[in-house]
Amino acid sequence: MSEEISFRTKVVHASLGIDEATGALNTPLHLSSTFHQPDFDNYHAFDYARSGNPTRQAVEEAIAKLENGTHGFAFATGMAAISAALLTLSQGDHFIISGDVYGGTFRLTEQVLPRYGITHTFVDMGDLDAVAAAFQENTKLVYVETPSNPLMRVTDIAAVARLAKEHDCLTFVDNTFLTPVLQRPLDLGADLVVHSATKFLGGHSDILAGLVVTNNEELAKQIY
Ligand SMILES: Cc1ncc(COP(=O)(O)O)c(C=O)c1O
Repeated sequence: MSEEISFRTKVVHASLGIDEATGALNTPLHLSSTFHQPDFDNYHAFDYARSGNPTRQAVEEAIAKLENGTHGFAFATGMAAISAALLTLSQGDHFIISGDVYGGTFRLTEQVLPRYGITHTFVDMGDLDAVAAAFQENTKLVYVETPSNPLMRVTDIAAVARLAKEHDCLTFVDNTFLTPVLQRPLDLGADLVVHSATKFLGGHSDILAGLVVTNNEELAKQIY
Protein backbone atom coordinates (compact mmCIF):
# COMPACT_ATOMS: atom_id res chain seq x y z
CA MET A 1 0.00 0.00 0.00
CA SER A 2 1.51 3.36 -0.97
CA GLU A 3 2.02 6.06 1.66
CA GLU A 4 -0.61 8.23 -0.02
CA ILE A 5 -3.27 5.52 0.04
CA SER A 6 -2.48 4.67 3.62
CA PHE A 7 -2.80 8.34 4.62
CA ARG A 8 -6.15 8.61 2.82
CA THR A 9 -7.32 5.50 4.62
CA LYS A 10 -6.23 7.05 7.89
CA VAL A 11 -8.24 10.18 7.11
CA VAL A 12 -11.35 8.11 6.51
CA HIS A 13 -10.93 6.03 9.63
CA ALA A 14 -9.29 8.50 12.02
CA SER A 15 -12.51 9.72 13.58
CA LEU A 16 -14.69 6.71 12.92
CA GLY A 17 -15.61 5.22 16.27
CA ILE A 18 -18.94 3.45 16.62
CA ASP A 19 -20.75 4.90 19.64
CA GLU A 20 -21.09 2.07 22.13
CA ALA A 21 -24.22 3.49 23.74
CA THR A 22 -26.26 3.85 20.53
CA GLY A 23 -24.35 2.33 17.62
CA ALA A 24 -24.14 5.78 15.99
CA LEU A 25 -21.52 5.90 13.24
CA ASN A 26 -20.88 9.59 13.83
CA THR A 27 -19.42 10.80 17.09
CA PRO A 28 -22.25 12.25 19.20
CA LEU A 29 -21.95 15.82 20.52
CA HIS A 30 -21.71 15.47 24.29
CA LEU A 31 -22.83 18.70 25.92
CA SER A 32 -22.74 17.70 29.59
CA SER A 33 -20.25 19.63 31.72
CA THR A 34 -20.21 16.93 34.43
CA PHE A 35 -20.34 13.14 34.43
CA HIS A 36 -21.97 10.81 36.95
CA GLN A 37 -19.58 8.45 38.79
CA PRO A 38 -20.67 5.02 40.03
CA ASP A 39 -18.89 5.42 43.36
CA PHE A 40 -15.99 7.18 45.08
CA ASP A 41 -13.40 4.55 44.17
CA ASN A 42 -14.41 3.79 40.57
CA TYR A 43 -14.36 6.74 38.24
CA HIS A 44 -15.47 6.68 34.62
CA ALA A 45 -13.05 7.91 31.95
CA PHE A 46 -14.72 11.34 32.16
CA ASP A 47 -15.63 13.42 35.19
CA TYR A 48 -15.64 17.10 34.20
CA ALA A 49 -15.73 18.36 30.61
CA ARG A 50 -12.84 20.81 30.94
CA SER A 51 -10.62 17.83 31.78
CA GLY A 52 -12.07 15.61 29.06
CA ASN A 53 -15.17 15.01 26.97
CA PRO A 54 -15.91 12.15 24.55
CA THR A 55 -16.53 14.43 21.55
CA ARG A 56 -13.34 16.39 22.10
CA GLN A 57 -11.43 13.19 22.72
CA ALA A 58 -12.53 11.89 19.28
CA VAL A 59 -11.06 14.91 17.49
CA GLU A 60 -7.93 14.80 19.65
CA GLU A 61 -7.33 11.16 18.77
CA ALA A 62 -8.01 11.86 15.08
CA ILE A 63 -5.50 14.71 14.78
CA ALA A 64 -2.89 12.74 16.75
CA LYS A 65 -3.23 9.86 14.26
CA LEU A 66 -3.06 12.15 11.21
CA GLU A 67 0.05 13.96 12.49
CA ASN A 68 1.71 10.66 13.54
CA GLY A 69 1.77 11.87 17.14
CA THR A 70 0.86 10.14 20.37
CA HIS A 71 -1.11 12.93 22.08
CA GLY A 72 -3.62 15.40 20.64
CA PHE A 73 -5.28 18.35 22.36
CA ALA A 74 -8.18 20.50 21.16
CA PHE A 75 -8.65 24.17 22.03
CA ALA A 76 -11.27 26.83 21.41
CA THR A 77 -9.02 28.64 18.89
CA GLY A 78 -5.63 28.40 17.24
CA MET A 79 -4.36 31.21 19.46
CA ALA A 80 -5.46 29.26 22.56
CA ALA A 81 -3.43 26.27 21.29
CA ILE A 82 -0.38 28.43 20.51
CA SER A 83 -0.63 30.20 23.88
CA ALA A 84 -0.71 26.85 25.70
CA ALA A 85 2.26 25.60 23.67
CA LEU A 86 4.40 28.68 24.30
CA LEU A 87 3.42 28.79 27.97
CA THR A 88 5.36 25.56 28.44
CA LEU A 89 8.28 28.02 28.58
CA SER A 90 9.27 29.49 31.92
CA GLN A 91 10.52 32.80 33.21
CA GLY A 92 14.10 33.33 32.01
CA ASP A 93 13.69 31.17 28.88
CA HIS A 94 14.42 32.40 25.36
CA PHE A 95 13.01 31.11 22.06
CA ILE A 96 13.73 31.60 18.38
CA ILE A 97 10.75 32.30 16.14
CA SER A 98 10.02 32.80 12.44
CA GLY A 99 10.23 36.47 11.52
CA ASP A 100 6.88 36.68 9.80
CA VAL A 101 4.55 34.63 11.97
CA TYR A 102 0.77 35.15 12.07
CA GLY A 103 -0.14 38.49 13.74
CA GLY A 104 -1.68 36.91 16.85
CA THR A 105 1.44 34.83 17.45
CA PHE A 106 3.58 37.92 16.82
CA ARG A 107 1.63 39.94 19.42
CA LEU A 108 1.74 37.07 21.95
CA THR A 109 5.53 36.93 21.45
CA GLU A 110 6.12 40.68 21.49
CA GLN A 111 3.57 41.94 23.99
CA VAL A 112 2.53 39.12 26.34
CA LEU A 113 5.38 36.64 26.87
CA PRO A 114 8.01 39.30 27.73
CA ARG A 115 5.81 40.28 30.72
CA TYR A 116 6.46 36.74 32.05
CA GLY A 117 10.20 37.00 31.49
CA ILE A 118 10.17 34.92 28.27
CA THR A 119 12.35 36.52 25.59
CA HIS A 120 12.67 35.81 21.86
CA THR A 121 14.64 36.42 18.67
CA PHE A 122 12.85 36.71 15.34
CA VAL A 123 14.83 35.13 12.50
CA ASP A 124 14.47 34.38 8.82
CA MET A 125 14.04 30.57 9.15
CA GLY A 126 15.17 30.18 5.54
CA ASP A 127 18.63 31.36 6.58
CA LEU A 128 20.06 28.45 8.60
CA ASP A 129 23.18 30.45 9.53
CA ALA A 130 20.93 33.12 11.05
CA VAL A 131 19.02 30.43 12.96
CA ALA A 132 22.29 28.90 14.23
CA ALA A 133 23.53 32.33 15.32
CA ALA A 134 20.35 33.08 17.29
CA PHE A 135 20.82 30.35 19.95
CA GLN A 136 21.62 31.68 23.42
CA GLU A 137 22.51 29.94 26.70
CA ASN A 138 18.86 30.05 27.77
CA THR A 139 17.24 29.15 24.39
CA LYS A 140 14.69 26.37 24.93
CA LEU A 141 12.83 26.11 21.66
CA VAL A 142 12.53 27.08 18.02
CA TYR A 143 9.05 28.04 16.82
CA VAL A 144 8.49 27.65 13.09
CA GLU A 145 5.46 28.70 11.08
CA THR A 146 5.69 27.19 7.60
CA PRO A 147 4.46 28.29 5.20
CA SER A 148 4.24 31.53 7.11
CA ASN A 149 1.27 33.86 7.22
CA PRO A 150 1.17 36.20 5.38
CA LEU A 151 4.38 35.91 3.32
CA MET A 152 4.18 32.14 2.62
CA ARG A 153 7.87 31.68 3.47
CA VAL A 154 8.82 27.99 3.56
CA THR A 155 11.15 26.52 6.20
CA ASP A 156 13.18 23.32 5.98
CA ILE A 157 11.69 21.78 9.13
CA ALA A 158 14.15 18.84 9.25
CA ALA A 159 17.18 21.17 9.06
CA VAL A 160 15.85 23.51 11.76
CA ALA A 161 14.85 20.60 14.01
CA ARG A 162 18.38 19.18 13.63
CA LEU A 163 19.90 22.51 14.65
CA ALA A 164 17.50 22.75 17.59
CA LYS A 165 18.44 19.24 18.79
CA GLU A 166 22.14 20.10 18.57
CA HIS A 167 21.39 22.93 21.03
CA ASP A 168 19.17 20.76 23.26
CA CYS A 169 16.11 22.70 22.18
CA LEU A 170 12.62 21.66 21.12
CA THR A 171 11.02 22.49 17.77
CA PHE A 172 7.38 23.59 17.53
CA VAL A 173 5.71 23.96 14.12
CA ASP A 174 2.54 25.80 13.15
CA ASN A 175 1.17 23.46 10.46
CA THR A 176 -2.02 25.44 9.80
CA PHE A 177 -1.44 26.07 6.13
CA LEU A 178 -0.43 22.65 4.81
CA THR A 179 -2.20 20.40 7.35
CA PRO A 180 -1.04 16.79 7.84
CA VAL A 181 -2.28 16.03 4.33
CA LEU A 182 0.78 17.78 2.87
CA GLN A 183 3.25 18.15 5.76
CA ARG A 184 3.81 16.11 8.92
CA PRO A 185 6.34 18.00 11.06
CA LEU A 186 6.73 15.28 13.73
CA ASP A 187 8.04 12.94 11.00
CA LEU A 188 10.62 15.62 10.17
CA GLY A 189 11.95 15.85 13.72
CA ALA A 190 9.65 18.46 15.30
CA ASP A 191 8.45 17.88 18.86
CA LEU A 192 5.08 19.62 18.75
CA VAL A 193 2.61 20.77 16.10
CA VAL A 194 -0.01 23.50 16.45
CA HIS A 195 -2.95 24.30 14.20
CA SER A 196 -5.47 26.98 13.71
CA ALA A 197 -8.09 24.37 12.84
CA THR A 198 -10.27 27.36 12.01
CA LYS A 199 -8.60 27.31 8.59
CA PHE A 200 -8.02 24.31 6.31
CA LEU A 201 -8.66 21.56 8.87
CA GLY A 202 -12.09 23.07 9.57
CA GLY A 203 -12.41 23.69 5.88
CA HIS A 204 -15.77 25.46 5.73
CA SER A 205 -15.26 28.76 7.63
CA ASP A 206 -17.88 27.69 10.15
CA ILE A 207 -15.83 26.84 13.26
CA LEU A 208 -13.07 28.28 15.43
CA ALA A 209 -10.69 25.64 16.77
CA GLY A 210 -7.09 25.02 17.72
CA LEU A 211 -5.10 21.78 17.99
CA VAL A 212 -1.81 20.64 19.46
CA VAL A 213 -0.12 17.30 18.72
CA THR A 214 3.06 15.93 20.21
CA ASN A 215 4.90 12.64 20.60
CA ASN A 216 6.78 13.88 23.66
CA GLU A 217 5.31 12.51 26.91
CA GLU A 218 6.63 15.35 29.07
CA LEU A 219 5.30 18.05 26.72
CA ALA A 220 1.95 16.26 26.57
CA LYS A 221 1.67 16.37 30.35
CA GLN A 222 2.43 20.09 30.40
CA ILE A 223 -0.05 20.88 27.61
CA TYR A 224 -2.81 18.88 29.32
C1 LIG B 1 -0.84 30.36 10.64
C2 LIG B 1 -1.85 30.73 11.67
N1 LIG B 1 -1.67 30.33 12.95
C3 LIG B 1 -2.54 30.65 13.93
C4 LIG B 1 -3.67 31.41 13.67
C5 LIG B 1 -4.59 31.75 14.81
O1 LIG B 1 -5.71 30.90 14.79
P1 LIG B 1 -7.15 31.26 15.35
O2 LIG B 1 -7.66 32.42 14.51
O3 LIG B 1 -7.95 30.01 15.16
O4 LIG B 1 -6.99 31.66 16.78
C6 LIG B 1 -3.92 31.83 12.37
C7 LIG B 1 -5.13 32.62 12.06
O5 LIG B 1 -5.27 33.18 10.98
C8 LIG B 1 -3.00 31.49 11.34
O6 LIG B 1 -3.16 31.89 10.07
